[in-house]
Amino acid sequence: MDIIRVEGGYSLNGSVQVSGAKNSALKLMAATLLAPGTTVLQNVPNISDVHVMGKVLKRMGATIDVVDEHSLAIDTSQVDSWEAPYDLVAKMRASTAVMGPLLGRFGRAKIAMPGGCNLGARKIDMHILGLEALGVSFDTDHGYIYADAGEGMVGTTVTLEFASVGATENLIMAAVRAKGTTVIDNAAREPEIVDLANMLNDMGAQISGAGTPVVTIEGVEELHPVTHRVVGDRIEAGTFIVAAALMAGDEGVEITGFSTVHLGMVIKKFELMGLNIERIPGGVRVYRAQHIRPMDIQTLPFPGFPTDMQAQAMVLSALADGSSIITENIFENRFMFASELVRMGADIRIEGHHAIIHGVPGFSGAQVSSPDLRGGAALVVAGLIADGRTEVSAIHHIDRGYEHFVEKLVGLGAHVERVSVPDSLDD
Ligand code: EPU
Repeated sequence: MDIIRVEGGYSLNGSVQVSGAKNSALKLMAATLLAPGTTVLQNVPNISDVHVMGKVLKRMGATIDVVDEHSLAIDTSQVDSWEAPYDLVAKMRASTAVMGPLLGRFGRAKIAMPGGCNLGARKIDMHILGLEALGVSFDTDHGYIYADAGEGMVGTTVTLEFASVGATENLIMAAVRAKGTTVIDNAAREPEIVDLANMLNDMGAQISGAGTPVVTIEGVEELHPVTHRVVGDRIEAGTFIVAAALMAGDEGVEITGFSTVHLGMVIKKFELMGLNIERIPGGVRVYRAQHIRPMDIQTLPFPGFPTDMQAQAMVLSALADGSSIITENIFENRFMFASELVRMGADIRIEGHHAIIHGVPGFSGAQVSSPDLRGGAALVVAGLIADGRTEVSAIHHIDRGYEHFVEKLVGLGAHVERVSVPDSLDD
């Protein structure tokens, strides 16, 4: 078992480049199924979730050529299976993103039911309701969902009950091959959806309105392969902003490779908390916060404050000069991180989907466990300012979404290392 060991108290200097966005790359990989031939994706993060999506595509018959660490040439011309098997869906729920593309290309899909995960139940009912409206029929048997588009999907208006990222993406990827016009009302507006629509349009799709609540898709007969660069990871950028705000040296830390427009609400809230964030070409320079003001934050779909930055924001609030409330509106179970931060000296009380946080003067290094991807990264960041040594376990969660996290922090001057430890002291 690997852990991340952090010696707190070392200042950060220099610059860091964020990788391509996990939540974009995974869907773009799935979308290559729609365009038989070889699509080249650039700026793909080298993270374990991308490896899982690669396996999903390979099981279906795709071949993937790793051109360089961040470029994949995905050939989907020989794909002859439309199944996402349980062993891979259980590893990564985002495997369900192949449902829309498989329906678009083959008119059918067999997807293992995802079940719960450590963010809660995370249903896919909205994906299914939307696809049913396009004429897809669903059956479930032995833990699998069977989707069948029969004579083909027909465009219609789908109103989503909630602006779900995954449902919007699956619907777009199916509707590009439906007959006629599909309108997705109350669509999610995340930048990763715009990235997906941009690539699909380059492939020959006709999608308008991506990034707004109403997305219109005119079905087309075929899509062709392209070369596409994955958008920069706004959440990785936000994570480094928090690290820099806590520990930057006099010169500040430069964070590049992303668009500040994609992090608008986060930067606004952080500035209100007293962070000093300077916009520079391709990113930001962040100086150490002399004084962190308390702030109430609620997570909301884009352009609101992202749930994927909730844990990192809690690290800042936990050191603020006063009390803050963080309200989690997207996932039912995303406060597991708080009890780990309490082990480091934070004062946090959870009531339903609210966290009440009373600022403390500092953290003390401790052994903690990553509850999930973002929570794990936030614990490492908390360790940077903690007194003494912090050891973060269950770091496979961090590996899912942060490329070379330890190396990037070390590059900034942090004293962080990945260490192998025996699985259990009883062994
Ligand atoms: N939901 C339903 N039914 C559905 C779909 C969603 O009830 O059919 C609920 C979910 O259970 C959840 C909420 O709606 O409570 C939001 O879900 P959404 O579909 O918007 O999220 P997602 O597509 O499952 C993506 C990201 C998450 C990110 C959320 C919100 C990927 C692979 N995952 O998940 O990323 O938090 O959007 O922005 O794109 C992460 O990167 O750490 C991560 C969890």
